[in-house]
Amino acid sequence: MGEFRQNLPILFYNNGMMNKIMVLHGPNLNLLGRREPQIYGTCTLNEINQKLTQQAQNAGLAISCFQSNSEHEIINKIHQALDEQIYCIIFNPAAYTHTSVAIRDALCAVAIPFIEVHISNIYSREPFRQHSYFSDIAKGTISGLGVEGYKLALDSIINELERSA
Ligand code: DQA
Repeated sequence: MGEFRQNLPILFYNNGMMNKIMVLHGPNLNLLGRREPQIYGTCTLNEINQKLTQQAQNAGLAISCFQSNSEHEIINKIHQALDEQIYCIIFNPAAYTHTSVAIRDALCAVAIPFIEVHISNIYSREPFRQHSYFSDIAKGTISGLGVEGYKLALDSIINELERSA
């Protein structure tokens, strides 16, 4: 443990445990890179996860990334976040943004802060996309900055931890 700690440039420990971030991606985001590239760009989900993992590791944070096309799997993962003592969730609920009271309830139940990320600007798209079941309970929302939004979400978590260190 001692040796491991020395290798980390920034140390974010909570009760002796490394702080953990969970990244959750909702339905159809497994197709990023091929899915409507004019809206979502050409970066794949793997590339996004790899970059986030590198960024987290550089800061001395643990991170896990999960994608599912199924509402119940996302809910189970959010419940799991409670047992895993996740510090913050970065969440792109994708189409569930506009439909899922059940996922909203799960996030309220675990009371873990989360940052809502959308690659596209949902407020400049079809009317049905302009309502989110998550924005009012999110710590913050990033929408329309492309896949850079995920990086900015993690930057803000790292900055917050640095300020409180
Ligand atoms: C999205 C926007 C949603 O409206 C859509 O259903 C998605 C992706 C985004 O990242 O821009 O699947 O969340």
